[in-house]
Amino acid sequence: MVAGANNWNRSSWKSFTAHQQPNWPDQAALDKVLKELSLLPPLVFAGEIRALKALLAKAVTGDAFLLQGGDCSENFSHVTAPTIRETLKVLLQMAITLTYAGGVPVIKVGRIAGQFAKPRSSDTEIIGDLVLPSYRGDMVNDPAPTAKARKPNPKRMLKGYNMSAATLNLLRAFTRGGFAALHRVQAWNQEFVSQSPMGRTYERMARQIDQAIRFMDTIGISMDTPQINQALVFTSHEALLLGYEEALTRIDSTTGDCYDCSAHLVWIGERTRQVDGAHVEFLRGVLNPLGVKVGPDYELDDIRKLADILNPDNEPGRLTLITRFGKDRIGDALPPLLREMKREGRNIVWSCDPMHANTFTTKDGHKTRSFEDILSEVRSFFDIHWAEDTVPGGVHFELTGEDVTECVGGARDIDDKDLKINYQTTCDPRLNAEQSLEVAFQIAEMIRR
Ligand code: PEP
Ligand code: CO
Repeated sequence: MVAGANNWNRSSWKSFTAHQQPNWPDQAALDKVLKELSLLPPLVFAGEIRALKALLAKAVTGDAFLLQGGDCSENFSHVTAPTIRETLKVLLQMAITLTYAGGVPVIKVGRIAGQFAKPRSSDTEIIGDLVLPSYRGDMVNDPAPTAKARKPNPKRMLKGYNMSAATLNLLRAFTRGGFAALHRVQAWNQEFVSQSPMGRTYERMARQIDQAIRFMDTIGISMDTPQINQALVFTSHEALLLGYEEALTRIDSTTGDCYDCSAHLVWIGERTRQVDGAHVEFLRGVLNPLGVKVGPDYELDDIRKLADILNPDNEPGRLTLITRFGKDRIGDALPPLLREMKREGRNIVWSCDPMHANTFTTKDGHKTRSFEDILSEVRSFFDIHWAEDTVPGGVHFELTGEDVTECVGGARDIDDKDLKINYQTTCDPRLNAEQSLEVAFQIAEMIRR
């Protein structure tokens, strides 16, 4: 392929160091899969990607708010209608809460339909007396603790593509086909949530929305509009496996530009955002909106360089910085970053991931997060933005619509001992549906100041 602007092409990342890639055992098998993927239809279209970018441009100025959430790591075995429906429901519930109680239009982006690959702190893991390759997500290997299961298998990328397509198909059907209509706000309340204090608060809000819609209907305002009958839900995942992302990158026939059509938004993780690394090289050339995770040990100069490389034209909506500092470090880490980016006049969507730096392990070995810590980081995020006169543009959560017990705290006060009741994640602990709703009500208060 010929090199495009600034020597970029879909494969130029190969001349750079790519961290966190699996040790694929068979190069010929890998090449065959990547070739096959490159011939399959794109999962999303350039026009949709541009629409998301235009919405994100509004989050730069506070005229919209980004809600991004879903599994830490999707599992093939959970690609079922109930699981997808419950995740969608909780995102819709959170979004309507932020819109109605918080008064801002919400951009809904799932960590869904492609979040199948994970960075790990080590290449190998010791289980008993075995040294095994680490589990790197269902698109790479299987979490079972055997050498056979952990062997990276590129065919899993094909399966990941198919699972993403099936998930997207159902999401599109649900969001366009009436499930997400505003008449149904009450029906999004899960049975196990509806009896809880949060569920009842939601129920009250839903009744008010219902009344407002009936009123508009009664006085003759048309209900036959997409704003009432449909929802716009976008997809996102960490662009980790560069071979996969390259294979799904296509030239938009209407503009001649390159888009990574594996998802609407893709992000670069904290472990792969090296300024001179392959992930940054690859993503600079696709026109999707991009996220970059930023942890508390960032170098200001790196973030400046990343913004230069990934968003040279300072296009609003192109770059979302997803800060994940932890409740104790956000106070020191966020202000200098905001000040510098503001001083340089950079257009950035500021999003808060209050999950990834608030993780700890309980005495009996459950990786968990506390609801209070999560809320504390979000609250500091808003307070700091208001103090700096910058715009808190969004939030990023690991959550599920299921009734899991993975994070401690919340209205039902899940404690250490409760974690084993329904602990399902193969990666990081997620907020359950009730905790997610609770956090949304709290954020609605913060947005309004
Ligand atoms: C994640 O979002 O699941 C993740 C691994 O995050 P980070 O790159 O911020 O550690
Ligand atoms: Co995670």
